[in-house]
Amino acid sequence: MTQHIPVSDLTERQARAELARLAELLKKANTAYHGEDAPIISDAEFDALKVRNAAIEAAFPTLKHGDSVSDQVGAAPSGKFTKVVHAQRMLSLANAFDAQDIRDFDKQIRSFLGLGEGAKVTYSAEPKIDGLSLSLRYENGRLVQAATRGDGETGENVTANALTIQDIPEHLTNAPDILEVRGEVYMRRSDFLTLNKAQEAKGEKVFANPRNAAAGSLRQLDATITKQRPLHFFAYAWGEVSEPLADTQIKAVNKLKALGFSTNPLTASFDNIAGLLSHYDLIAEQRATLDYDIDGVVYKIDDLGMQNRLGFRSTTPRWAIAHKFPAETAWTRLEAIEIQVGRTGALSPVARLAPVTVGGVVVSNVTLHNEDYIEGRDSKGDPIREGRDLREGDWVQVYRAGDVIPKIADVDPSKRPDGSVAFEFPVTCPECGSPAIREDGDSVRRCTGGMICPAQAVEKLKHFVSRGAFDIEGLGAKQVEQFYADGWIREPADIFELRENFGSGLQQLQNREGWGAKSANNLFDAIDERRNVPFAKFLFGLGIRHVGENAGRLLANHYGDWSTFLAAMETANQKGPELDELLGIDGVGEVMAQAVVAAFNHPQEKASILRLVDHLAIQPAEIADSNSPVAGKTVVFTGSLEKMTRSEAKATAEALGAKVSGSVSKKTDLLVAGPGAGSKARKAAELGIETIDEDGWLTLIGQA
Ligand code: IVH
Repeated sequence: MTQHIPVSDLTERQARAELARLAELLKKANTAYHGEDAPIISDAEFDALKVRNAAIEAAFPTLKHGDSVSDQVGAAPSGKFTKVVHAQRMLSLANAFDAQDIRDFDKQIRSFLGLGEGAKVTYSAEPKIDGLSLSLRYENGRLVQAATRGDGETGENVTANALTIQDIPEHLTNAPDILEVRGEVYMRRSDFLTLNKAQEAKGEKVFANPRNAAAGSLRQLDATITKQRPLHFFAYAWGEVSEPLADTQIKAVNKLKALGFSTNPLTASFDNIAGLLSHYDLIAEQRATLDYDIDGVVYKIDDLGMQNRLGFRSTTPRWAIAHKFPAETAWTRLEAIEIQVGRTGALSPVARLAPVTVGGVVVSNVTLHNEDYIEGRDSKGDPIREGRDLREGDWVQVYRAGDVIPKIADVDPSKRPDGSVAFEFPVTCPECGSPAIREDGDSVRRCTGGMICPAQAVEKLKHFVSRGAFDIEGLGAKQVEQFYADGWIREPADIFELRENFGSGLQQLQNREGWGAKSANNLFDAIDERRNVPFAKFLFGLGIRHVGENAGRLLANHYGDWSTFLAAMETANQKGPELDELLGIDGVGEVMAQAVVAAFNHPQEKASILRLVDHLAIQPAEIADSNSPVAGKTVVFTGSLEKMTRSEAKATAEALGAKVSGSVSKKTDLLVAGPGAGSKARKAAELGIETIDEDGWLTLIGQA
C-alpha cells in the first residue's frame, strides 16, 4: 500500500497512484463535509491527507492535475444554500445622523448604567463598511461554517464561498475552542471597476456598486466563481465564544487581528464625545481616498462588561450606534404620481421618476407617503419643503442615505412646467372603486373594500409569503399575483390547500409558463415545510396593521403560545385587563394594541385566521433563557434600586425570559422591592406574592 511509503521514497508510478487515491478520498470527504454537513473523516485526518497530497505534488510537479484538490475549496454546488440558525442573533445598528444624536446616545447609556455626567466612558470608533455581514464559526481552530446574516436569526451557509476569500483563514492557532468571528465582506472599488469592465466585455451583468458586486459574488452557488472575484473581509465583532477574547472592544478586535484577520486601521478609542466627532470628521475627510465604500462611523462602548450590562433591544445593541454620513442627492424629473393600494388598504402615492443615480444606485420610484406630504405638510400640519407641493412634471431632488429608502428632499418651483396643476388625491380606491376614507387622526386615506379589494388581498398574501413571515420558497410576489388572478388563492389558508386542490388541476399549472410537474411538486413541498411555524413568524405573517416583525416577536415572547394568545384576544375588548396586559408589553403602544384586538374582533378576519391555523403547527416561543430561575415568571420592580437602574433591571430580567410588569396583580410571580416601596409591596403582601429585595434578586439570577 502506497500510503505508508514516505513521499521521498515513492516511485513516479506509485506517486501517480497515490495522487489518484488521495484525490478521490479528499473529494468524498469534502462533499460530505461541505455539501452534506456529515463529515466522514476527522479534521486532523483531512488535513493530513491534504498535506500528503501537496507534498507528493511538490515532489512530482508534472503529476499535478489541473483540477488538483490542493486548488479546490468546498464542494460542488448543491443547487441552493442550506439554512443556518445563528448561535447568537446577528443584529443591526441604530442610526444617528448628527452630533446631537450622539450626545443623546451617550446620555441614554449613562442613564441606563446609572452613571453621572462626570464618569468616564470610553468608546471605540471605526468606519462602517458598506458590504454584507458574515459570521465565521471556528471550532477547535478550524472554519466549520460561514453564514450570511439573513434575517438575523437564520442565514445561508456560504462556507465553500467564504473559504475562497483570502482574508478569511481556514485554520486558526491559539483561538478559543468555539469562536464566531463577525465582520463585513466587501469588494474594493478598484476591483469593482475592473470586474465590471470584464463583465461588460463578456456581455454579462454589470453591478450597480461594490456592495452589490460583493453580495452577488458571495452568494454564488458555484464557489469557483466566488474564487475568481476579489472579495475581502474586515473582522469587527464576534458571536458565540467559548472564552472571552478580551475585556475591551479594542483589545478583542486586536486579538482577532493577532489570529490572522484583517481589521480596520481607522479604529480608535476616545473617552469623550468631542473625540468621537473629530474621528468622524477625519474618516469623512479620508472617505474619498479609501479603496472601499463606507457609509458612516460606528461607535461602540469599549468596556465589554458595560456592553454586557447594556445588552440589546429587539434588533439593535444598546451599546453601539452608526453615525451615518449625510445622504447623497441628485435632481431629476417627477414624471407621474401613481397610487398603490397596500395590504392594510392604505392608498400610497408613489412618484415615478426619470431614473437617476443616487449614491451608486439607480432610483426611479420614491414614496410620497400620503396626501399631506404631496401638499407640502407633515402629519402635524407644519410645512415641509417650506410648504411647496409636488406635481407631475416637477424637478425634484432625491436623496438616499446608505441602505435607506430613497426620498424626495426638495422641489424646484422655478422649473415647474407651464400649466401644471396641483395633484388631486383620489377619494375612491383605484383598484376596486370602494370609497377611500381618511379617519380623524390618520395621515393616510384607506380603501374600505377589505378583502373584496384585490389589491389588499394580493398584498396581504405577498406579505404572508415574504421573507420575515412564512418565507415560502418558490412562492414570491409574481406567483402570488398569478395564483390570485387565476382564482387559486384568496387568503393564506388557500395556500395550504393548493396541493389537494390541484389534484386534477395540476395539469393546468404545469401548462403555465415556467411550471412543470417537478417545480409544482417542489412548491407543494416548500409549502408543507412551512406548516411548522414559529409563533412570532406566524403573528407577523398575519399582516395585522402595526404588527411588524419586531412586534410579532414581542407578542410571541409575552404570550408564549397561540392558544394563550387567542384566549386573551377573544376576551379583550376596548378596555379591561387583557388590553392592559397588551399595553404592559414594552414596545406595544395604544395604536398597535387596538389594531391587534380589532383583528380578532372582526368576524371575517378572525375566521380567516382560524382557517389558516387549522393547517399549521404553531411552535411556542422559545423562552430567551429557559434555564434561568425567572424564565416565564412575571416580575414587578418597585422602590429604588441601588445597584442598577430600573431600565437595566428590566432588560436583564427580560433577557432571562421573565416578563416585567408595571403593576402587581394575581398574575405577578415575584416582587422585587427596594427602599421606599409602598402600595405595590402592600398589594403583593395582600395577594401573598413572594417579595424579595435587590440583593435577593441578584442572588436569584446569579449576579450577586
Ligand atoms: S458592529 C451587534 N461594526 O452594519 C452589532 N457593524 O447597519 C454588530 N457594519 O449588520 C455590528 N461596519 O453588517 C459593526 N464596523 C462595523 C460595521 C458594521 C459595517 C454593518 C453590519 C451591521 C450593519 C448595521
